[in-house]
Amino acid sequence: MLEVYFGNMLEEVIGEKGLSLSQIEGIREKVLSAHKQIEERKWKELAFLDLGSQKTTEIKKIARNIRETSEHFVILGIGGSAIGPRAILESLSPLHNYRGKPKIHIFDNIDPRTIATMLEVIDPAKTTVNVVTKSGNTAETIATFMLLWDKIEKAVGSDVVNRFILTTNPEKGIIRSLIKEYNIKNLEIPTTIVGRYSVLTTGLLLAEVAGISSDELLRGAYEITEKCKSGELWENPAYIFSSLLYLMSTEEGRNINVIMPYADGLKAFSDWFCQLWAESLGKLGFGITPYPSVGTTDQHSQLQLWMEGPEDKVVIFIKIKDYGRDIMIPMVLSDKEGFNCLAGRSLNELMSTALQSTEHSLSNASKPNVTIAIPILDAYHVGQLFQFFEIATAFLGFLFGVNPFNQPWVETGKNNLYGALGKPGFQTRNEQIEKMLKDSVCWKI
Ligand code: PA5
Repeated sequence: MLEVYFGNMLEEVIGEKGLSLSQIEGIREKVLSAHKQIEERKWKELAFLDLGSQKTTEIKKIARNIRETSEHFVILGIGGSAIGPRAILESLSPLHNYRGKPKIHIFDNIDPRTIATMLEVIDPAKTTVNVVTKSGNTAETIATFMLLWDKIEKAVGSDVVNRFILTTNPEKGIIRSLIKEYNIKNLEIPTTIVGRYSVLTTGLLLAEVAGISSDELLRGAYEITEKCKSGELWENPAYIFSSLLYLMSTEEGRNINVIMPYADGLKAFSDWFCQLWAESLGKLGFGITPYPSVGTTDQHSQLQLWMEGPEDKVVIFIKIKDYGRDIMIPMVLSDKEGFNCLAGRSLNELMSTALQSTEHSLSNASKPNVTIAIPILDAYHVGQLFQFFEIATAFLGFLFGVNPFNQPWVETGKNNLYGALGKPGFQTRNEQIEKMLKDSVCWKI
């Protein structure tokens, strides 16, 4: 089970820059009111709390078919529709395309170099594409969808309709219309599930295609949800985690959260966390800037700043007790100074020792840090990590008093793009944009 080690956030442990117990007790009322919003399901978007109980029979059937028929499985999506699936793949099936079939490619941008190369690399006759878009209307995803539809249609003709699985909301959007018109295989993202909280819907097909158990992901999510049900601050790991970060932000001016898993496989998870944190909390002048990092690598690039730079950060470590694999450093050159202290040790041990020493350096200098620990990097615990951070995000949003489920400026960005493309019903380029373009031409060297 996931655990939160929060001692290094407390004055009692790290000294002057830690939080006092009276500061924490001082937000009890806010905690209670935030808890009530969750317990009483005051927001329909809290439906993500129930995702752990989903049935996966249909997804497994589709995945089996993809595994049997395809050499390439391509996911097209952006933001919440792509980052989560990538986090599942990278954490649970490292270097998948060197070992697994079908090869899995996730495209979450319209960079012409990347997309042109992808179109050259895949064999369109042996490719299945999963288009993921909650709204069913996002321009970038639709553009890459059109490119792949064209490529595959040229290779297989009318069978193109069988090479796509469209994942979208059940009611509206141009993708939904297409599903109806061509009778294309599809999966639903419930209307109440917000994009960045949707990994445990959109990521399940990819998981099964990659040979990762979707049931284990969901079991982990279910069990951590149960563990985070208590309204008592000191008994609820998500609540204590968010409350301490809330106080560090509002009372101590620490408005940057570094997330630092000690695992390459969790780099994409850090990106997923960054979107969740930024897009959910950055509202009404509140918010905490998330900053992705990975151990031990970033000890060699970022640690200096955290130790001696501005006092504006909290470091969130993710610690893995057992990597599921280990490797011993051989006894070669072990009679030589510098080699002898490494010979015969395991990489698991080196990782843990490096994390402990970074934790110690920070705490010893009174720099707040908190550790989320999981016993082993497997589907069950990755499911727990996703759900834990989603609960913590919603709760922190309620503490700040913001809506953690909307993203008005993301929507504005989408609409502006459609406006600029001349889509009917969207505002076309206005005078302010014309002025900005003119000014940028004047002010250049
Ligand atoms: O969290 C969100 O709502 C956004 O990041 C969306 O996931 C992103 O904009 C993609 O939208 P859609 O899934 O509708 O294509």
